Amino acid sequence: MTTYALIIGSGWESLVRGDSGTTVETAYGLPSAPVHRLRLGEHDVLSLARHGEGHTLPPHRINYRANVVALKKLGADAIIALNTVGVVSDLRESGQVAVPDQLLDYTWGREHTIYDGRRGEVVHVDFTAPFSADLRAGLLDAAGRAGVDCYDGGVYATTQGPRLETAAEIDRLERDGADYVGMTAMPEAVIAREVGIDYACIAMIVNRAAGRGDVPIHDDVEASTTAARNATTSILEAFFGTV
Ligand code: HPA
Repeated sequence: MTTYALIIGSGWESLVRGDSGTTVETAYGLPSAPVHRLRLGEHDVLSLARHGEGHTLPPHRINYRANVVALKKLGADAIIALNTVGVVSDLRESGQVAVPDQLLDYTWGREHTIYDGRRGEVVHVDFTAPFSADLRAGLLDAAGRAGVDCYDGGVYATTQGPRLETAAEIDRLERDGADYVGMTAMPEAVIAREVGIDYACIAMIVNRAAGRGDVPIHDDVEASTTAARNATTSILEAFFGTV
């Protein structure tokens, strides 16, 4: 049976409540938090709080390598990443969810590979399709069964943060083909590819991106987060068969 792991953002305390958690040492240091094991339906699911359990780590300070390698060490075959995003294009609205099928990476200065040359290995992983087709299909199928309107596809652009973007930067992202903007899918997704873990993301749209909405971004986030989170919970419940 596939061993699934959830990498979760803030506000998902219920998903890290399983056991007391395992602290996992890796060659890259410690992950953001202890890894918990939850029983969801018939599955033992690993769960890791990306920003730490007190939400103390900004996106550029997260040890993505340690997080993914820790999950690998505990036997994860597949990672479902929960990421909040803003929406750049007209594809979706705040409060909705999507399962993106492509990535753009604008991050810098993050440890973004396990093949960093220090171990005498030069490896160029194939990242043409950054998300696992099977895992994406499974999540979309679960969304369908749960009756959640979840968009199939779209391009997730990963920015450095922690600040939000300027309106001109969002215009540039749109010209580049971005549909969503967030700060955490990279290098998480590519490190998963490097260690051989399937990876897909549920993008929770909590705001219209900078310069796109008619309300201040933080007001949009406040008004939209619960809907996006409830939709995601329903997808996960259907995926793991807990309802
Ligand atoms: N930009 C970047 N990251 C985000 C946003 C955004 O508008 N919303 C949620 N995460």
